[in-house]
Amino acid sequence: MSVISVKSLFIIIFTLSLFLAIILLSPSTPFSLPSIPPTRKLDIWSVRRIVEWRPCKWWLQGRLTSLPAKSNGYIRVDCYGGLNQMRRDLCDGVGIARLLNATLVLPKFEVAAYWNESSGFADVFDVDYFIQQMNGFIEVVKELPPEIAFKEPFWVDCSKRKGQFDYIERVLPSLLEHHYISLRPAMSQRRDRYSQYAKVALCQECYGALRLTKSLEVKALQLVEAIPKPFLSLHLRFEPDMVAYSQCKYEGLSPASMEAIEAARGDRKPWIGEAARIWRKRGKCPLTPNETAILLQALSIPTNTTIYLAAGDGIMEIEGLTSIYTNVVTKSSLLSGEDFTRMHGNTKAALDYYVSIDSDSYMATYFGNMDKMVAAMRAFKGCYKTLFLSRRSFAEFSSQGLKGEELMQALWKAHRDDFVMGRGSALPDCFCEFKL
Ligand SMILES: *[C@@H]1O[C@H](CO)[C@@H](O)[C@H](O)[C@H]1NC(C)=O
Ligand SMILES: *[C@@H]1O[C@H](CO)[C@@H](O)[C@H](O)[C@H]1NC(C)=O
Ligand SMILES: *[C@@H]1O[C@H](CO)[C@@H](O)[C@H](O)[C@H]1NC(C)=O
Ligand SMILES: *[C@@H]1O[C@H](CO)[C@@H](O)[C@H](O)[C@H]1NC(C)=O
Repeated sequence: MSVISVKSLFIIIFTLSLFLAIILLSPSTPFSLPSIPPTRKLDIWSVRRIVEWRPCKWWLQGRLTSLPAKSNGYIRVDCYGGLNQMRRDLCDGVGIARLLNATLVLPKFEVAAYWNESSGFADVFDVDYFIQQMNGFIEVVKELPPEIAFKEPFWVDCSKRKGQFDYIERVLPSLLEHHYISLRPAMSQRRDRYSQYAKVALCQECYGALRLTKSLEVKALQLVEAIPKPFLSLHLRFEPDMVAYSQCKYEGLSPASMEAIEAARGDRKPWIGEAARIWRKRGKCPLTPNETAILLQALSIPTNTTIYLAAGDGIMEIEGLTSIYTNVVTKSSLLSGEDFTRMHGNTKAALDYYVSIDSDSYMATYFGNMDKMVAAMRAFKGCYKTLFLSRRSFAEFSSQGLKGEELMQALWKAHRDDFVMGRGSALPDCFCEFKL
């Protein structure tokens, strides 16, 4: 009897150790299965993320460096283009002004021909809030001292400079000589030479110092309240100017769209032949509403989702989206006609921005200034449901001949991996990667 029990004990131990060995030696043990669902049963937002971007502690919670005892002069930042482009330039401008130990004058927001309007900085943003939020980061004045108040600032154009551009070397001498300069930040600047306090001022300006004027905020809130919840804010850029600018050619457009694009082209001719194929595969072509609808479906966004179109009324071929996603709303459908017709481009852009920051989720079909600003502000607020739809993956997979379910599966995988790893949003210097 004892012999049998020893024998069975041996068998039990042997079996157990064999089982243990299998568990420990197999390359993928049951304990380390990836948490990423392999299929697209759930929507993209329910995928578990590994990395997210948050505002870096060094500026959000860091100690402030005291301002210099003596200012080197006054700087006005001159901003041009669309609202979010001006905002980006203001961000950079504040960093430059702090780097140069200058005093900031309220920025000039230019009347851009494209937007056809006159909204200046104070028409869109709350000036007192701006000054208060920049307190300690940089000195800001509403009025110039009398001895220079009558002067036009000396204009330093940095915007066209490419490559290495150092503001202390190139701009400080002008500031010291003229005492009051205006500048437009260069596209590429040597931020590596920025002092820590200049970077801190830049981040604070970009993400912590701007809010809409009271009257605009009231309007924006009305708009948000009118949208059924939850909703996805979608920035779909398929307007004639955008398509013309991209130099891409599209098949299957209506004659009206073709005409609108041709009218916007000017001397920017579309690429043709092999160059066009390469251009498209590099992800340079705006997604059409059709393609966007395929992408949203690939990401398992239900077709009855409420979608706010954060864009103007000029989107072409919109039926490609609205025939599949049937709950699409726009500003013009939600605001009263009178409200809407009185609004300027900047005001409308400000509303889209506001709604997109407050939406449950945000997706962009392009990687423009608004998209970058919205993505950063959403990260600042801890809203993680933000995604850039990949034009490059779409072009790549379609050129491989993928269609239907196969195409969607490939698109799902590419976007899922970006979302999990926090890739594709390219948040600027003020944000840090955080392992979840
Ligand atoms: C700005 O002031 C700091 C001291 O507050 C000084 O270290 C720095 O060199 C100054 N920079 C310029 C460009 O004047
Ligand atoms: C620009 O605004 C002016 C005055 O409000 C108007 O007459 C004109 O038609 C507008 N132009 C465009 C292109 O919207
Ligand atoms: C969008 O899809 C519809 C239906 O499949 C098609 O008729 C139309 O040409 C497509 N438009 C574009 C811009 O691809
Ligand atoms: C969308 O459809 C699903 C299932 O058909 C339903 O559970 C959900 O409530 C619907 N959502 C909206 C916003 O209508």
